[in-house]
Amino acid sequence: MRKKVSIIGSGNVGATTALFALQSGIADVVLLDIVEGIPQGKALDMAEACPLWDISSEIKGTNDYADTAGSDIIVITAGFPRKPGMSRSDLLHANANVVKASCREIAKSSPNAIIIVVTNPMDVMAQLAWKTTEFSCKRVMGMGGILDASRLTSFISWELQVAPEDIEALVLGGHGDDMIPLSRFTSVKGIPLTELMPKRKIESLIERTKKGGAEIVHLLQTGSAYYAPAAATFHMIKAILLDEKRLLPCSAYLNGEYGVRDLYMGVPVIIGKDGIEKIIEVKLSREEKTRFRKSSSSVRRLIKILSI
Ligand code: APR
Repeated sequence: MRKKVSIIGSGNVGATTALFALQSGIADVVLLDIVEGIPQGKALDMAEACPLWDISSEIKGTNDYADTAGSDIIVITAGFPRKPGMSRSDLLHANANVVKASCREIAKSSPNAIIIVVTNPMDVMAQLAWKTTEFSCKRVMGMGGILDASRLTSFISWELQVAPEDIEALVLGGHGDDMIPLSRFTSVKGIPLTELMPKRKIESLIERTKKGGAEIVHLLQTGSAYYAPAAATFHMIKAILLDEKRLLPCSAYLNGEYGVRDLYMGVPVIIGKDGIEKIIEVKLSREEKTRFRKSSSSVRRLIKILSI
């Protein structure tokens, strides 16, 4: 029997993640949205492409959580983009209501699922999903670091004209303005980046990574990035379903690791069939620790506003 992946929210990120998951042939997919017709229409469109990919995986569009029952993985992308006149705090409350309502349904219909949270502010929404479902923290994680690391990898690859698969990049911290791309742990086939590029160039690529989301919002004018976010989300889905034991930067529940307690933050973890199978703790320099603390304070501030 194929595994079942349900995606909550059939907008840009949700539908594109569904497409990648379906096309891989490793799972059947359920696409859910609050708006009637959208998930059904997008799912039908994708289903009609399957014969061209020679795959027999199935996709169903729905507005009913009953169709997601028994999912192995649930991806939460539902929410609202920031609209003119809306403060970050308004957005925070609006998305928190969506994620909370969704998690109540998930806990009932898919009690054994692993949840991947994508809705922003992601680390905060991951914490909310964990609290609402009361699932083991190993089964609730957030997508952020893989996307940020992929962006940094792309910029390094273009700059050095070297294949991206030879580049290893690591990004820690919250998935926001205070993310911490770590050049010290970034290398090309084991050669530290600092030996291949001047410090100032590295800093400019890190700066571009931090503003990676904003750069795309600026170009698109309406909406935000979705191809790379969906690819990063599918990377996590694949690592879980195929029990790959990949070491990936994801938002995970920290309870003392990195000196942070009771908070979701981006750290390197090993991902496999059980979800977050291990948190990898790397020794940070004093300056990196300060940045990590600053990043965690930003996430904690939002958690307090929501009284999670
Ligand atoms: N239940 C289900 N779906 C919902 C609900 C709800 N309560 N509320 C909103 N949605 C749906 C919307 O109808 C829309 O189809 O969520 C979808 C969001 O899609 P987009 O607006 O296209 O947003 P997208 O670009 O996909 O981003 C989704 O991922 O990367 C993050 O910051 C991004 O938080 C955002 C999320």
